[in-house]
Amino acid sequence: MRADRPARSHLYSSDHVRGDEAGTHVPVLLGSVISFLSGGRREGLLVDGTAGAGGHLAAMAEAFPEMSLLGIDRDPVAVSILRGRFNQDSGITVRQASYTEIPVIMSEMGFTYASGALFDLGLSSIQLDDSSRGFSYRLDGPLDMRFDGSSGTTVDELLNKCSEREIADIIYNYGEEGRSRRIAKAIVRERPLHSTQELASIIRGSVRGNPVKVLSRVFQALRIAVNRELEQLDNLLDSLHTWTEPGARIAFITFHSLEDRKIKLLFRDSGYYSQFSPVWIVPDENERRENPRARSARLRMGIRL
Ligand SMILES: C[S@@+](CC[C@H](N)C(=O)[O-])C[C@H]1O[C@@H](n2cnc3c(N)ncnc32)[C@H](O)[C@@H]1O
Repeated sequence: MRADRPARSHLYSSDHVRGDEAGTHVPVLLGSVISFLSGGRREGLLVDGTAGAGGHLAAMAEAFPEMSLLGIDRDPVAVSILRGRFNQDSGITVRQASYTEIPVIMSEMGFTYASGALFDLGLSSIQLDDSSRGFSYRLDGPLDMRFDGSSGTTVDELLNKCSEREIADIIYNYGEEGRSRRIAKAIVRERPLHSTQELASIIRGSVRGNPVKVLSRVFQALRIAVNRELEQLDNLLDSLHTWTEPGARIAFITFHSLEDRKIKLLFRDSGYYSQFSPVWIVPDENERRENPRARSARLRMGIRL
């Protein structure tokens, strides 16, 4: 089923691409994603469920000019960048929403099924580099980390209100960090804390040796917790087969082993998809060198049966 949309004539030319903010996030595994999606039906609706700064979305628009495109992000800042980048004539629909709301938005657009979808999970460089969002242990900022700052619990509330046991469980379960109990104990001892640098210094003080991996695991765990990222992903994976048509190509880029495992099981065991081969792809040496943030990325691809 297809809705009317304005023609997308020369998208991705400079008048549609705003370089300044958009240029600071480099899309990961871009060539592999586009080449995978190219094997699918080149009509109907293509969804980018985590559109971020629009790097993948812009490349999709260029590669598939005959398709309707929907770009979604939970973060209002990302959505304002997307709206600046893709104007109304582009034929790209941009919405601030969670990817769990995709079927509702599709139906507003007049679509029942999508011919393809991409989910590039996690955090964009724009979010990471904005100290006021509190995502980075390298920059000083408030303990926030919500993708959508208008609702939900902040990291500040979580760390200052939860029990030591709850904090340790979050660090262990979502950060896979073995020193979770020691870190949680130090956090509770030093409360109240309100800035990323207070938190970073507590973490540094509670582990021996190079703290970089521990810092990134703890910050990642807290981000996953306040945004309920694994619950959101479970909801998406439960409903994905209901709004994708047979033959639809679906790509996930993950940066975390817990997420990656969920996608692996979905494509391998749910019965709704065939796993595309190769079963996963990681960035090559060039991409890892040019974009260090791509280092832990893994692309998995499935085709709706
Ligand atoms: C790695 S970035 C995507 C970057 C994008 N592919 C690009 O090329 O610019 C991940 C994005 O997913 C968004 N996000 C996280 N959870 C989401 C959810 N449940 N629904 C929609 N967007 C979400 C984040 O706000 C972030 O902008």
